[in-house]
Amino acid sequence: MVEPMEKLAYEDAYKLVKKEINSALTRSPRIVNDYLTHLSNSQGKMIRAVSVLVCAEDEEGKLKSGAVQAAAAIEIIHLASLVHDDVIDNADLRRGQETLQKKFGKRTAVICGDYLLSLALKTISTIPEGKHYLDIPTSDYISKLCLGELRQHINNNNLDLSLLEYIRIISGKTAALFEASFFAGAVLSGASQSEINMYKKIGNYAGLIFQLRDDCLDFDNTVGSAKKPVQSDYEQGVITLPLILSFSRLPAFKKKAMEKNITREDINRAVEEAGGLDYTNQIIKRYYRKADQNISKLNVSEEKSKKLIAILKKASGMKAEI
Ligand code: FPP
Ligand code: MG
Repeated sequence: MVEPMEKLAYEDAYKLVKKEINSALTRSPRIVNDYLTHLSNSQGKMIRAVSVLVCAEDEEGKLKSGAVQAAAAIEIIHLASLVHDDVIDNADLRRGQETLQKKFGKRTAVICGDYLLSLALKTISTIPEGKHYLDIPTSDYISKLCLGELRQHINNNNLDLSLLEYIRIISGKTAALFEASFFAGAVLSGASQSEINMYKKIGNYAGLIFQLRDDCLDFDNTVGSAKKPVQSDYEQGVITLPLILSFSRLPAFKKKAMEKNITREDINRAVEEAGGLDYTNQIIKRYYRKADQNISKLNVSEEKSKKLIAILKKASGMKAEI
C-alpha cells in the first residue's frame, strides 16, 4: 500500500496502475467475476493512463499517488465504453480476443459496462485531491463521451454528414476522455489554471488524432495490429472522414451510395481515388502541429516535454518510447 504523501517514480506508478486495474477486475464479486476476468485477459494500449501519469509528473519527474487511481479510473471508464460500444457495433473482436457481448451476450455486456463505470467512480473517490478537483469534471467528461456516441448513432447512415459534425462526434466519443486524462494529470501535478487549460488543449488534440488514425485503420485489409474488426465502419453505418472526403470529391460514388448500390470494393477504390486517407493524415498532421506548439509553451522539463510528444506520436500510430 502506498502512503498518500509518498511520491512515485513514473515506472512504479505505471506498474501500480496495471495492478490497480487488474485487481479491480479480478477481485470483483463472484457474480460478475467471470466476465471481468475475461476482460482482464487482454490489455489495451494504456495511452490514456500513460497520459494521466506523464501529465502528473512534477518538476522532478515524481507523481502523487492519486495519479495511479486517476489513471486506473480513466482506463476503466474507457473499458466500460468499449464494452458498450461493442454491443452497439455488434463487434466480435476486441484487443485480440472475443468481445464480452459475443462470448456472454449483449444483455450481460451492457450490465457489465455499467458495473465497470461504478468501479471507475469508486476508484476516483479514493483520490485524496479528487473531491476538490476531479468529481465534477469527471462526470462532465463522461457526459461528453456519451453524447458523442449518441451523436454518432443519430448520424448512423447519414451520407450527408459534414466534416464539422464528424469532428463534433469524435470530440465527444474520443477526445473528451483524452482531455480528461490530461486534465486530471495536470491537476495532480500542481499546474496553474492557465497551464491546466493548455494541457486540456493538448489532450483534446491527442484524442482527435487518435480517432482520426483509428478511422483510417478501419480501411486496412487485415485485422493485423488493430486486433479488432476492420472494414466495418461503413457496414455499421458509421461514416468517417476518409469517406466524407470521398463523397464530396466523387459525386457519382455518393449517388451510388445513396441508392444503396455500393460494395466494400467500391468504397475502398473510391477512398483510394479521392485520397481520403491522405487527406485524413493531413488533418492529423495539422492537429499534431497545434498540440506540439502547446507543448512547447508549457513550463516543463525537457524529459516531460519529450514524453508528451511521445504520447502524440503514439496517438498518430508512430513508434515512441515513454
Ligand atoms: C469506440 O469507437 C468507442 C468510443 C470511443 C466511445 C463509446 C462510448 C459509449 C458507448 C458511451 C457509453 C460510455 C460509458 C462510459 C459506459 P469506435 O467504434 O470508433 O472504435 P473501435 O473501432 O475501437 O470500436
Ligand atoms: Mg466500435
